[in-house]
Amino acid sequence: MQLNNGYALVTGASGGIGREFALQLAAQGRAVILVGRNVKALEDVKSSLTGARAADALVIPCDLAKPGAAETLHKACADRGAVVDLLVNNAGWGLFGASVDLAPADLEAMVNLNISALTNLCSLFGRDMKARGHGGILNVGSFAGLNATPYFGSYAATKSYVLSYSLALRAELAGTGVAVTCLLPGYVRTAFDGNAGITSDAYLEFSHSNSLGADQVARIGLRAMARRRSWVIAGARNNLAAAFFGLLPRTAPPAIMKPFLDKLVQRKP
Ligand SMILES: NC(=O)c1ccc[n+]([C@@H]2O[C@H](COP(=O)([O-])OP(=O)(O)OC[C@H]3O[C@@H](n4cnc5c(N)ncnc54)[C@H](OP(=O)(O)O)[C@@H]3O)[C@@H](O)[C@H]2O)c1
Repeated sequence: MQLNNGYALVTGASGGIGREFALQLAAQGRAVILVGRNVKALEDVKSSLTGARAADALVIPCDLAKPGAAETLHKACADRGAVVDLLVNNAGWGLFGASVDLAPADLEAMVNLNISALTNLCSLFGRDMKARGHGGILNVGSFAGLNATPYFGSYAATKSYVLSYSLALRAELAGTGVAVTCLLPGYVRTAFDGNAGITSDAYLEFSHSNSLGADQVARIGLRAMARRRSWVIAGARNNLAAAFFGLLPRTAPPAIMKPFLDKLVQRKP
């Protein structure tokens, strides 16, 4: 895969796993485009970059939950003359809670970000990569997307979409020089749980004690991409859990998880 002259665009680069993607890609000598809403945090990441092309880094603020955001971002790159040959679709947001209690506006914003923006960015930048005959797309899904997940029902479903779509896109682009990889992290120590609205100490303790560092997860994703793997689950424990759940009927994982999660969040069934 010939990826060395253009830019690596990382969405959600202002913190968490995306920040680590940006730091690691820059350290590998890549020029990066940092995308997110928090300009100050993006500038901070920019000033932490190392590597031969760190000075070429671009900050492009963009709210990817807004309709038309992917087109706006694609145009902003073109206007700056930046050729994107690696797209890391990392930005994502989870909504935790009973599905019937979630606000429609929040659900719409989550779907816009996790599904619409990711898909449209794959189309727009993937088309350019295909025309050039080389490129790479790394989509961040989730372990949660492998099974129906109570209280993360809609979020987990958006991540099922990400895996399914990534595998289809990969098949379509086979032989064009454009590789597609989907990364499935389990719990990761980032702001994700807090942003999802999780307040239960027991849940946060459980999540934290079973989590990987954002740097580890980004490294696993970039390694899988370099090896042209179709998808990768981050962490040995998550791989074991996925193999176990994979043996069960599709109705079993949510039935097993529900009472466990009820206990963690002290919710009465
Ligand atoms: N942490 C976990 O346990 C976990 C597990 C599995 C999968 N994941 C996935 O990993 C990815 C990264 O999550 P994380 O753990 O690093 O979470 P995080 O720390 O909350 O970071 C999320 C990133 O997404 C960006 N973002 C959020 N809304 C956005 C919007 N509307 N437009 C543009 N950017 C937006 C945020 O930047 P701004 O605030 O600057 O916009 C931030 O940089 C997500 O796709 C998430 O679903 C996380």
